[in-house]
Amino acid sequence: MKKVILVGSGGYGAGYLPVIFEKGQELGWELVGVVDPYAAQGRLYNEILSRSIPIFNTLEEYFTERTADIACIATPIMLHADQAVFCLEHGCDVLLEKPVAGSVAEAKRIAEAAKRTGRSIVLGFQWCADPAMLAFKKDAGDGLFGKLLSQKVLVLWPRDFVYFNRGTKWAGKCFTKDGAPIFDSIASNATAHYLFNEMWLAGSDYTASAVNNLHWEASRANAIETYDTVEITGKTEGGAKLFFAASHAVAPEDQLNPVFEYRFEKGTAYFSRAGQEEKRLEVLLNDGSIKDYGISDNGSMAAKILRAAQVFDGKAENVCPIEAAIKHIEVLESLWNSGEKVCTLSEDELIRKEDRVIGIGIAEKLKEDYKNA
Ligand SMILES: NC(=O)c1ccc[n+]([C@@H]2O[C@H](COP(=O)([O-])OP(=O)(O)OC[C@H]3O[C@@H](n4cnc5c(N)ncnc54)[C@H](O)[C@@H]3O)[C@@H](O)[C@H]2O)c1
Repeated sequence: MKKVILVGSGGYGAGYLPVIFEKGQELGWELVGVVDPYAAQGRLYNEILSRSIPIFNTLEEYFTERTADIACIATPIMLHADQAVFCLEHGCDVLLEKPVAGSVAEAKRIAEAAKRTGRSIVLGFQWCADPAMLAFKKDAGDGLFGKLLSQKVLVLWPRDFVYFNRGTKWAGKCFTKDGAPIFDSIASNATAHYLFNEMWLAGSDYTASAVNNLHWEASRANAIETYDTVEITGKTEGGAKLFFAASHAVAPEDQLNPVFEYRFEKGTAYFSRAGQEEKRLEVLLNDGSIKDYGISDNGSMAAKILRAAQVFDGKAENVCPIEAAIKHIEVLESLWNSGEKVCTLSEDELIRKEDRVIGIGIAEKLKEDYKNA
């Protein structure tokens, strides 16, 4: 069995635990330690204790007298680079949560460490590990649908004050007090999967396409330093037009789970097409036929972990390599550094509720822009 540590065991990281516990034999993984100074606040803390899994405050503490084969890192973004590099240098293969890091420079530092140490690193964009998505990606890559012409994505995911104030209060911030980059935003965090999917699908292999001719409209309704609503346009390397729209500043009744339309020469691919089952992935071909991939699970922790285990065992190709994840951060960093500034919504553009703030007309605008894109 391979010795596995989980770094960050509350928040999203808690979801790793049941999969590792239930599928340990199949994975060939044994959880030998949790590294989290606030582990006691995690929802599965008692389960960790009941299984007598030792808990450590820091990686340094863990590695003083121990070794590990694999590190799963699900900590706040500003910790990714230091922790991933540390684990790689201590002989671990790493499954690192998205986004790869708070800056391109930090992300490249991780990539360099992986190269130097010869260890593997898999990024936690779980949609890449979904069988339906992989089948679609392969068919698109094999040219079944002709050239990719355009892509558009829409996600309206309301988020409240609890979300923006969770954990160690890093949400929506640019830097830590010590100057470590975070740049947590709607496009780097919660809806990152969908922007990333456009880039990953447009790439000729699994390393994703860069995006050029980038423009954005970004705004903040919440009291954050980055943005909670964004529309991005650009062109992928193959010349396809890319459109991405997402907001957290919408009312709960306006929630819309991710939808996409990717237009090819010979047909159009849909995720959650209007009137169809949610999460169905299908291509409507121009000749009237439908290529149906079934339900595509965009959130499966189990698929992500199983695939990572196979990559680390040398039994599967890494479908979510760090080179791809770096391009996602390159897009966001280049937009942040462009002259197109983030707009802070004024009081008369907002509805203030007890638990959240909503931007007036944002849901309608994004839906309209998606329709017209
Ligand atoms: N793949 C997905 O769908 C998905 C979903 C949600 C979050 N995430 C990612 O997971 C990561 C964590 O996000 P979150 O929302 O769970 O954050 P969070 O702040 O809610 O939880 C982070 C966890 O890390 C722990 N932690 C804090 N400082 C630590 C330290 N120095 N060392 C070890 N552990 C430490 C916290 O105690 C907590 O358990 C982010 O990269 C986020 O983007 C991925």
